[in-house]
Amino acid sequence: MTYSFIDKSFNETTGDAARALVEQQNDCRFLSPNRGVVSVSESRWREAQEAERHGWMQLWRNETEDRNSFHAAMFDNYLSLRGECFRHAVELGCGPFTNVRLLGRIAEIQAVSLLDPLVEDYLAHPHCSYRDRILFFAPQRFVYVDRLIASSIEDFGAAAEFDLVLLINVIEHCRDFDRVADVIWSLLPPGGTFVFHDHSYHHADVAEVLKRHFDAAHPLRVDRAAIDQFLGRFETIFHRVVNTTGKAPLSGPGEMIYFIGRKPR
Ligand SMILES: C[S@@+](CC[C@H](N)C(=O)[O-])C[C@H]1O[C@@H](n2cnc3c(N)ncnc32)[C@H](O)[C@@H]1O
Repeated sequence: MTYSFIDKSFNETTGDAARALVEQQNDCRFLSPNRGVVSVSESRWREAQEAERHGWMQLWRNETEDRNSFHAAMFDNYLSLRGECFRHAVELGCGPFTNVRLLGRIAEIQAVSLLDPLVEDYLAHPHCSYRDRILFFAPQRFVYVDRLIASSIEDFGAAAEFDLVLLINVIEHCRDFDRVADVIWSLLPPGGTFVFHDHSYHHADVAEVLKRHFDAAHPLRVDRAAIDQFLGRFETIFHRVVNTTGKAPLSGPGEMIYFIGRKPR
């Protein structure tokens, strides 16, 4: 049985040394009965956020995107939203670069707000795409960022304010999946559009892997059925599922989901 321990500075330990560390610190206590890890403690989430800040502000300071173009390609460049006009978009867990800047090449977006607990830190990232509070969709096409919201999704309360909500590669970093789902539902008015991408897992795999693997930056590992149940509340516009059989723990058996849906009117 192989062990691995990735600390909040992204140092990986393997072998017997990792076994000792995983025995001291693991996420087994957060495992739900049948939905993977759907919530963790505040302190566990804060540890993940320390890792995230360290990653973007130090280790990956020279990066200019977080696979945003890859995700756009997996969404067929958001062509299913071509010709749509959105009054106010919000990207949740926007990171330093955002995905909405790529979606804005295809659809008309009149205003953008960005939410991330680390959004104020990211302004100091050398390649932050909204550093001057302007987001460019194309050389001559841009919007001023309406609100920079330094909050977790779970702590953000706003009702039916945004007709476009993006959540791309964020769930695994959050504190409480069910709360995130409730907040997203309440942010969208009937007819509002939701753009979602993340990894999903199988509960049984998660239960096994948590015993020998710890990854400080990724506290949640949500089972596919839990994600499908949430996405099932929307009318589907786009849906692509890619099976993964990666080598790394927990990028093994699972899926990557790309979904665009509309909240029923
Ligand atoms: C892997 S990055 C992805 C960033 C961006 N979505 C992208 O695709 O470029 C995950 C982001 O989620 C943010 N995050 C973590 N927990 C969050 C939460 N509870 N609510 C909102 N954002 C969160 C992190 O601060 C980080 O910026």
